[in-house]
Amino acid sequence: MTKAPIAYSALGRRAQPPTIARLMSLMLENPGLLSLAAGFTDNRTLPVAAVRRAGESLAARPTEPEYLQYGTNQGRPGLRSLLAGRLLAQETPSNIENVRKNFFITNGSQQALYLAMQVLCDPGDIVLVDRPSYFVFLEMLVGLGVRAVSLPVDSAGRIDAGALRALLEGLRERDELKRLKAVYVVSYFSNPSARSLDEVEKSAVAEALAGAGAVVPVVEDAAYRDLFFETPHLARSVLSLPAWDAFPKLYLSTLTKPFATGLKIGYGTCSDPGLLAKMLHVKGHHDFGTANYNQALLEEVIAGGGMDAQLEIIRPAYRRKMLVLHEALITAGLPGLGWSWVVPAGGLYLWLEAPATLDTGLESAFCRACVEAGVLYVPGDLCFGDDAPKNRIRLSFGVLGEADLAEAGRRFGAVAGRFG
Ligand SMILES: Cc1ncc(COP(=O)(O)O)c(C=O)c1O
Repeated sequence: MTKAPIAYSALGRRAQPPTIARLMSLMLENPGLLSLAAGFTDNRTLPVAAVRRAGESLAARPTEPEYLQYGTNQGRPGLRSLLAGRLLAQETPSNIENVRKNFFITNGSQQALYLAMQVLCDPGDIVLVDRPSYFVFLEMLVGLGVRAVSLPVDSAGRIDAGALRALLEGLRERDELKRLKAVYVVSYFSNPSARSLDEVEKSAVAEALAGAGAVVPVVEDAAYRDLFFETPHLARSVLSLPAWDAFPKLYLSTLTKPFATGLKIGYGTCSDPGLLAKMLHVKGHHDFGTANYNQALLEEVIAGGGMDAQLEIIRPAYRRKMLVLHEALITAGLPGLGWSWVVPAGGLYLWLEAPATLDTGLESAFCRACVEAGVLYVPGDLCFGDDAPKNRIRLSFGVLGEADLAEAGRRFGAVAGRFG
């Protein structure tokens, strides 16, 4: 009997292999390839001792091992309270109690992003995204059939409020404003650009939206807020900025990048109890609670000061790694060949602009030449919701050690030289 094709749902039909899977298979097919692509953390500085101590301390408790039991859908109260306290030390929200009460834990911040988009958007709806933006989020929107529209930026990458007002007016004229469901910004040491938004820019987005009568939920993704190298980026989040007062606000962050990616714990707080309730209902359908043991470990770590100790270790380590890659690219002569980038003050990425005529996309001759030379990167065109330029590249200095970063930078520079 011939097998009948499976009749997939619309979501199943839209689902495509994520680009990261394609990049990973390139890695497997090409042993010896040095990856500047994956946004992973560095195995050398993962907090083995802190996690062991936390595990031992849990096991030594004389009480029942509740930490090995299912937890609650919204997350462990102790961990939520500690994380809310850490967030409130950086913020001045008008309703502090709301921030605490509406705090939640997710399976990485990725899950929170998916929950938010699932409860807010139908196929054909629109989400405003920063330009460039987090490519896994953009792929998620494609998977949900949702249209990403970029927040306009000027030549320095700052949000252009005048152009945003015109964009919103265009949506209104085409009767599409009603399809605008949310705005998404990665506002601290962004993936991929390493840029941070200042308070004026953030407030200008709110003012433009309010002026257009589009008081839609804002999702602020602060995944890299704690991963500054020397000084924090001092801009407050949308939770505290008066321009966003009237908007439903979802603030998301994670303990993966600043502590242990493998524990996969993310968190957030929502100013709107109705929106939070909907997200938690859907989380109940997904998993009815994030791994309780991982949350218990992190609660131990934070309560014992282990989070701050780990941040003290990784901030200078990632800064050194960033400088190794940056200097390798300078030594390889990239600036003289017309390449440019801003030296980041935090995060895990260098965001390169190649000469305008150089195509760096996944199928380009340049990308193939890099793989042949033994170095992999994320093509920057994946990081745009629309109107993607072809000459951008994201390089991650997260995974490789310093010697490999220098070698990867040299290989990359040699290819750039051949195409220069
Ligand atoms: C901007 C941004 N947001 C969210 C995430 C998701 O992180 P996690 O699910 O590990 O918390 C990432 C991961 O790379 C990211 O770069």
